[in-house]
Amino acid sequence: VVDIRSLYAQTGYFTYDPGFTSTASCSSKITFIDGDNGVLLYRGYPIEQLAEKCDFLEVCYLLLNGELPNGAEMKEFVTTISKHVMVHEQLTRFYSGFRRDAHPMAVLVGVVGALSAFYHDGTDVTCREDRYTAAIRLIAKMPNIVAMCHKYSTGMPFIYPKRKLGYAENFMRMMMGDPCDEYIPNPILIRAIDRILILHADHEQNASTSTVRLAGSSGANPYACVAAGIACLWGAAHGGANEAVLNMLEEIGDASNIPEYVAKAKDKNDPFRLMGFGHRVYKNYDPRAKLMRQTCHEVLDELNLHNDRTFKLAMELERIALEDPYFVERKLYPNVDFYSGIVLRALGIPTEMFTAIFALARSVGWIAQWDEMISDPELKIGRPRQLYRGVPQRDVQPISSR
Ligand code: ACO
Repeated sequence: VVDIRSLYAQTGYFTYDPGFTSTASCSSKITFIDGDNGVLLYRGYPIEQLAEKCDFLEVCYLLLNGELPNGAEMKEFVTTISKHVMVHEQLTRFYSGFRRDAHPMAVLVGVVGALSAFYHDGTDVTCREDRYTAAIRLIAKMPNIVAMCHKYSTGMPFIYPKRKLGYAENFMRMMMGDPCDEYIPNPILIRAIDRILILHADHEQNASTSTVRLAGSSGANPYACVAAGIACLWGAAHGGANEAVLNMLEEIGDASNIPEYVAKAKDKNDPFRLMGFGHRVYKNYDPRAKLMRQTCHEVLDELNLHNDRTFKLAMELERIALEDPYFVERKLYPNVDFYSGIVLRALGIPTEMFTAIFALARSVGWIAQWDEMISDPELKIGRPRQLYRGVPQRDVQPISSR
């Protein structure tokens, strides 16, 4: 690792690294990835153990505080979160300004950004207590905000949260519940949602987290920074991949069409890529994908959906791609979103909500990274340089002679 700051100060030498393939933009104590060996740690704990032994709120506590909570700390954390689950009634009116068929991510960018208008004066970003409260508010309100995106799009009334319910159950009730009926949770399916949340909670300096950090480095309001992260997450190369996987499977339609789509993905003159394959950092199996694959089987078993056409198609695509020299040579394995889309679909969640659920999960990572950045004594406003390739200096000619 070369710290080029002193080299720059002495010689003016700087690096050109489009896409930040080999440049660290910050240091962090939150998440560690070893892409060659398929390792992911949150605060030192392997993702496999966290997914097995913890629930999402314990993971939130860990990401924010650096340690797993003991029983008393967890009780207090859950109580604090539950106090903040409601959103200001005024905020619910924002939804009606959107078209009913607006993409949920478009609505989410607007509504989460609007939180900054509700908690502007009360948030001093230099004060840890204020930053912690901002984090708690965001984690507590996101399930409600995301579920309202779905309810608004279907014309159903919003369902208020219930403080006594667990985080994932509360979310599923607000999202999938019907106000005329009691919501009866299935523990296996609730656990699957909780696992999706854990696996997506943080992933070091991915595009959306880096966006949140860059926006936050100017001292901007944290909810506005998170809205910037949501905008970045939306793209199909990032969080939008879970939705894109399902759309791609629908388009492929039948296993007999897979070779045609695999050929398109390999054709350098065709922009098409197999959605849900490949990762910038993992050049070995994405450890989250392994866990998500397992959850996928559990959910399909529970719902007796193993013969589901889309699932069988996905398994066949996985098999063919993993045996194809093009994908093998480039180390393009299925990523977590290849499987999370299948799980979400099996749970009856509409495809266009998939990325919004990713945003719900990643909110804790965004806000934990924002908090860490602000408290860093080396904090500087993010200001990347560029390599200028335009025309050299020249003189302006009068319009009559141009
Ligand atoms: N299908 C076909 N070819 C691919 C794919 C794919 N999904 N992904 C990468 N490649 C090829 C590229 O064409 C390139 O080939 P070349 O060496 O012959 O030029 C090579 O693999 C390397 O690809 P890059 O684009 O340089 O890899 P990069 O690290 O920049 O991109 C990314 C990673 C964006 C994830 C890419 O693999 C991709 O577009 N995947 C599909 C979208 C997706 O699933 N995104 C989700 C990422 S995970 C997440 O956000 C939670």
